[in-house]
Amino acid sequence: MSHRSPHPTSSPSSNWRWPSRISGLPYGGDYNPEQWPEATREEDIELMTGAGVNLVSVGIFSWAMLEPREGEYDWGWLDETMDRLAAAGISAALATATASPPPWLTHRYPEILPQTADGTVLWPGARQAYSVANPVFREYALRMTRAVAQRYADHPALALWHVDNELGCHNGHDYSDDAAAAFRTWLARRYGTAEALNAAWGTAFWSQRYSSFEEILPPRTAPMFVNPTQQLDFHRYSSDELLDYYRQMKNILREATPQIPVTTNFMCTTRSKNMDYFAWAEEMDVIATDHYTVAEDPDRHIELAFSADLTRGVARGRPWMLMEHSTSAVNWQPRNHTKSPAEMLRDSLGHVARGADAVMFFQWRQSASGAEKYHSAMVPHAGPDTDVYRTAVRLGEALRQLRPVQGSQVQSEVALLFDYEAWWGAELDSHPTNELSYPEEVLHFYRSLWKAGVTTDVVHPSHDLSGYRAVIVPVLYLVRQKDAERIAQAAENGAQVLVSFFSGIVDENDAVHLGGYPGAFRRMLGIRTEEFWPLQRGEQLLLDDGGRADLWSEKVHCADSGAGAAEVLARFAELRMADGSSQMPPSLAPTGQFPLEGSPAITRNTVGKGAAWYAATRLDEPSLDALVRQVLIEAGVPPVHQDAPEGVDVVRRRHPDGASYLFVLNHTPQPVTLKASGSELLSGTRVTGRLEVASGEVAVVEER
Ligand code: GAL
Repeated sequence: MSHRSPHPTSSPSSNWRWPSRISGLPYGGDYNPEQWPEATREEDIELMTGAGVNLVSVGIFSWAMLEPREGEYDWGWLDETMDRLAAAGISAALATATASPPPWLTHRYPEILPQTADGTVLWPGARQAYSVANPVFREYALRMTRAVAQRYADHPALALWHVDNELGCHNGHDYSDDAAAAFRTWLARRYGTAEALNAAWGTAFWSQRYSSFEEILPPRTAPMFVNPTQQLDFHRYSSDELLDYYRQMKNILREATPQIPVTTNFMCTTRSKNMDYFAWAEEMDVIATDHYTVAEDPDRHIELAFSADLTRGVARGRPWMLMEHSTSAVNWQPRNHTKSPAEMLRDSLGHVARGADAVMFFQWRQSASGAEKYHSAMVPHAGPDTDVYRTAVRLGEALRQLRPVQGSQVQSEVALLFDYEAWWGAELDSHPTNELSYPEEVLHFYRSLWKAGVTTDVVHPSHDLSGYRAVIVPVLYLVRQKDAERIAQAAENGAQVLVSFFSGIVDENDAVHLGGYPGAFRRMLGIRTEEFWPLQRGEQLLLDDGGRADLWSEKVHCADSGAGAAEVLARFAELRMADGSSQMPPSLAPTGQFPLEGSPAITRNTVGKGAAWYAATRLDEPSLDALVRQVLIEAGVPPVHQDAPEGVDVVRRRHPDGASYLFVLNHTPQPVTLKASGSELLSGTRVTGRLEVASGEVAVVEER
């Protein structure tokens, strides 16, 4: 039986290559000249030059324009665009044009359309209506890729290949018959025999035993819960299948232009669950990501910081490209928020602070027609005499001033472990509670770290943890044995490891580590959980140290299973209704007795030179803030800047030769003054001991 790990080594891929034809930090956006007449296209180049744009993503959705009829190509407008860009010294991230198949293709071959779990066909008329498992689609998409590659291989504007667009964004899970066949092939490669698959999937349950791979289907809509390991493997297969499609396109591009880097735009955010970007990263020359803040989230700057830290983790610490974000409103949220110029600059420079060496937008010019006409752009409907365009010009200047920062790396002593497989596993159905959201729990911990003023690397459990003083492990539900050992080793070597509830529960097949939860971490934590005790909505736990919690509790025993027994830091004291009413919590009915009263809620176990902490419940924000600060103190991790009050985000980037850059983003309503010396790059002024940053503003000090 071969269990291929998508994360075969803890060392980064050696493919990494920056699009070095572009001088300075790449700056620009998606450019769709095919939507505009000649006069506008001429003005575009003028305005791009005015804003300091040096890179645009071209041709992403242009298949039907480039190949209007099967086999007939119309390169005119793209030739002209590429020539104009080159003449203006602007580079192109040239797309394979495959992100939306042309109507003639889906009309002739409707079998290329993807299907949902209940068999609904995703029809054309929007975008990304294709199944990568369909051989006809693959053939046509690869042919288009080859045609673009051959035509522009030697073009001086070409700096980077942009494969498709946000692969899997709308068609990440396809349940069609082609997908079923590809899933079977994937399973046969993973398991070798039906017996091995039966063992991994636990098919002794509910008469699910398979006698051959032919009998297996994707987890389509069924009368009851579908086998969880089948669902988990379908997540893995779906991510791998899309990656395989990318790989085929990359190989074509690589062959045509060995010197030009190839990438695709990831969606490294808390909203994109389908692709395992840590595994995908191995196939990229440079990591690129898209990020959109969510207007209704008052903490959207913290979610942005998390997404940027996750992107840097996927990039193994190396500089990465922000391939898309928005100058102002987006069109796809229920109520779309107009950004102030200051918010636009903060968002952009917030990414740079966390390792982005490129800032790009969707899109250059706001479309007059189509589903995205109310999505902001660098040139809005109202034209260049607008705050939006003027801010784009300011940002272009800022990025020129930040040029010395290029290539420097972010410093961090704290790792937060993030794993797409743990996400897939933790949110399967028929669990102790269906109210647990993996990204929410991860963000809950991240927010406390952010508020404590430390910089966090968001990394995969298979990555090297050796340089970290603190390792945070939120809801790592599924964990491989060797990763659990590496985490325990980090504690042995001196790290403070903080583990949350519902971590270390199952192996890679979603089979429970027996003998008491959390099986994979029991020894390190010095505890043994007898039973989970999830709460009902509206219930709240009080802890004997004054802490509060909800969602989850469990019956924990401090137990020595080889590395000592944990000490108890806080115990469950009371269960009541969160609204303060005297109503008996449903969990305590009918007697009112709370069986967990007095049992451990937060524990700590000394492990070698470090320690392993456990939170057996979901602490509320102040309680988690306090616990995280305690862990950071024990780990000896101070905030990046001692003077920075909560809400002032301070991040340091450093070149290997020693030059360092202090980014200060003031997200508070007050001005802030911090100790700093050097030169402030955005204003070009000297800083001698005191740096003042106004509310909502950003400063970047080259430290001396
Ligand atoms: C991205 C996509 C872009 C555009 C943008 C709008 O998901 O790659 O093409 O649709 O969203 O926010």
